[in-house]
Amino acid sequence: MSSSKKYKVAVVGCGKGGGVLGTHSIGYAHGTDWYDSPRADFVGACDLDPENLKRFCTHFEVPHGFVNIREMLATAQPEVVSICTYAGSHPQVLEACVEGGVKGIWCEKPFALSMDEARDMRDLCAENGVKLIVNHCRRPLEQFRKVRALLEAGAIGTPMLFASSIGNWDQMEWGTHWHDIFRMWAKDQPVEWVMGQARCGGEKFRYGHTMEDHSLGYYCFADGTRALLDGGVALPGDAALSVFGSEGVIHLTQKTMRVINRDGMTETEIPGLHPPAYGSEESLRIPHSLLDWMEGGPESELSVDNALKTTELYLAIYESAKRGDRIDLPLGTQADFPLDAVAARQKAQ
Ligand SMILES: NC(=O)c1ccc[n+]([C@@H]2O[C@H](COP(=O)([O-])OP(=O)(O)OC[C@H]3O[C@@H](n4cnc5c(N)ncnc54)[C@H](O)[C@@H]3O)[C@@H](O)[C@H]2O)c1
Repeated sequence: MSSSKKYKVAVVGCGKGGGVLGTHSIGYAHGTDWYDSPRADFVGACDLDPENLKRFCTHFEVPHGFVNIREMLATAQPEVVSICTYAGSHPQVLEACVEGGVKGIWCEKPFALSMDEARDMRDLCAENGVKLIVNHCRRPLEQFRKVRALLEAGAIGTPMLFASSIGNWDQMEWGTHWHDIFRMWAKDQPVEWVMGQARCGGEKFRYGHTMEDHSLGYYCFADGTRALLDGGVALPGDAALSVFGSEGVIHLTQKTMRVINRDGMTETEIPGLHPPAYGSEESLRIPHSLLDWMEGGPESELSVDNALKTTELYLAIYESAKRGDRIDLPLGTQADFPLDAVAARQKAQ
């Protein structure tokens, strides 16, 4: 049972807003959820860009905007902060939040550029009693849950392979969502090994980090089920995600779920593959899972412990490409973003 307490909340990383091409402004998604939540009181916002900050504060009637995060934390004193900046800035922003007395953090994906950073952020929060969730926002959605239920019911026999391909994207920015979904479909079993390859000219730089031109991630869950993600070049056909089983196949397209098995083919409509409308009851389930967890309720399914396992997958894929070898999990110490080494090597060739 949730309390009626209203939490003082703030957003760091507003974005331009208004659907400006080339930016998503995910800060507006968090902003809409907090603005519409009966459990939140919007007390502050922070962005390095004063124009973005001003527009955001006007849009959400935020009383105080700051370009300096430590100033925001000291003045507005939020209890909960949304971190909507890029992965490379997460350690610094998160540390400021923890030191500033924040007790709950809703951080954007992708979580980190290295496993050392990811583990340090988890540990810092644990040591300071801060609850941290990472926005793998597709995991709770019904259309993805339904696939797991079908697999558990044996609708396509033994699951053998989860597969997806993402045109013009990567293993990390977009791929982290599908790795998280594959893990959920595999009942969050451990992954035993990871193979990865990447073409990385080093010319593509998005969200503050090197991005590959094309990559492959392939890994094996404890029960032998495999997952394959092509980052960069889409497969033919209309399926965004597929599960191949010993007695059938499930395809998720942008609009449908197609099940082909011994009974024939059934196709049902789904609400899409993207998050629901921000501010809706379904959308608010994520931030409210953080507040519930802070109040002693169950750990959010988007907790940092879940995020670490998903983050480990894209980082192990890049590490495999860097070393030219299979990576057996858990991934050990990793201080640097492995794709930078791949890009440097390929540039030198
Ligand atoms: N969960 C999702 O489905 C989803 C969707 C879109 C974007 N994202 C993620 O959200 C993050 C942000 O993406 P975006 O498209 O909103 O970017 P954006 O460029 O539209 O907005 C980022 C904002 O953060 C500000 N900023 C950067 N560093 C900062 C710092 N240290 N302190 C304060 N402000 C800072 C920038 O000035 C900018 O206004 C990315 O990591 C992206 O992958 C997630």
